[in-house]
Amino acid sequence: MPKISRKASLFSESVIREMTRLCNVHNGINLSQGFPDFSAPEEMKEAACKAIRDDVNQYAITWGSKNLRNAIAEKCAKYNGMQIDPEKNITVCCGSTEAMISSILATIDPGEEIIVFEPFYENYGPDGILSGAVPRFISLREPDWSFDFQELESLFNNRTRAIILNTPNNPTGKVFTRAEFEFIAELCRKWDVLAITDEIYEHMVYDRHRHINMATFDGMADRTITINAASKTYSVTGWRVGYAIASEQLTSSIRKVHDFLTVGAPHPLQEAVAVGMRFGESYYAKLAADYLQRRNYLLEALEEAGFRCYKPYGAYYIMTDISAFGFPDDTTFARKLIRDVGIAVVPGSSFYHNPQDGFTKVRFAFCKKMETLQRAASHLQEVREKMNPGA
Ligand SMILES: Cc1ncc(COP(=O)(O)O)c(C=O)c1O
Repeated sequence: MPKISRKASLFSESVIREMTRLCNVHNGINLSQGFPDFSAPEEMKEAACKAIRDDVNQYAITWGSKNLRNAIAEKCAKYNGMQIDPEKNITVCCGSTEAMISSILATIDPGEEIIVFEPFYENYGPDGILSGAVPRFISLREPDWSFDFQELESLFNNRTRAIILNTPNNPTGKVFTRAEFEFIAELCRKWDVLAITDEIYEHMVYDRHRHINMATFDGMADRTITINAASKTYSVTGWRVGYAIASEQLTSSIRKVHDFLTVGAPHPLQEAVAVGMRFGESYYAKLAADYLQRRNYLLEALEEAGFRCYKPYGAYYIMTDISAFGFPDDTTFARKLIRDVGIAVVPGSSFYHNPQDGFTKVRFAFCKKMETLQRAASHLQEVREKMNPGA
């Protein structure tokens, strides 16, 4: 038998994407994987078709088409207060997934430590393994997903190379506060550590919470890699267009890794994303308002069905506690929920390095049409009757 590499043997298939496949088998309602079931903006779809018709069909410059990099710089200046040079500070990648792994491979050597907030977006585990980095976890504690400042401070040492911060956060819906940012920035400066911030949900914030960007803090512009993508903001997860923003020195290293990993993101879709990046403020206001309506609707339906919910203030997921249902673990619960109730969710254990820590949790996604959520709500009425471990 041909052998597989040690690295590949250290992580398993994505649980989230497995849930989507299982959902398709049972013809269920997919509230597991975070992709919208509604249309992308018409202007962007038109621009993509036009770009292909106009024969924008060959490689773009490896680090991204000039038009898209200019649009990213304009948008970051307008919404994030970041002054970036599109020629020196941006690498366009195949989604934020590739932006993250390229950034980690470009900056971290095997054996160096990275600090990861837990629960975490599941990709960060394999990212650490592939790069040979040693992850150190800091707990976000429910119900408000705060963390202990002293505990975080104790994780920094002279082997620490980076801290990975996802805000607004998947899976918890936490939006990191200014005080938390200031504390993290202080530690990064003290220990000469990079902040790699995954901001893919930056426009989905609710109830007066505000998204903050680490690169705008004193002394942090040169030690922050800002990761983002078109995927969630413009409902185009399948287009695979993301980007990393960093200092010139870090960018030249990220661009090299990116070039040899993927060469570049799809060129016609880069041109279409540039159109989206130039949308006015009303687009983002409507996006947030629509998501707020969906959050409130699903929150109420879940609470009525007996789930204990941790109200999210950002992103488009609701973490719930399922202890009341009496199941031995989250995966058993999730499989039965698809089979008997017809709703797919993600088992909480996939967000923890020690799976037991997520055994009493499952995550619901609300990036769906209202009518999909209404169908889900009517199925959820059957939960109390059908979801008992003995049935
Ligand atoms: C926090 C976070 N980062 C990155 C991604 C993946 O982004 P992309 O599709 O742009 O690779 C996701 C998708 O769910 C996510 O939740």
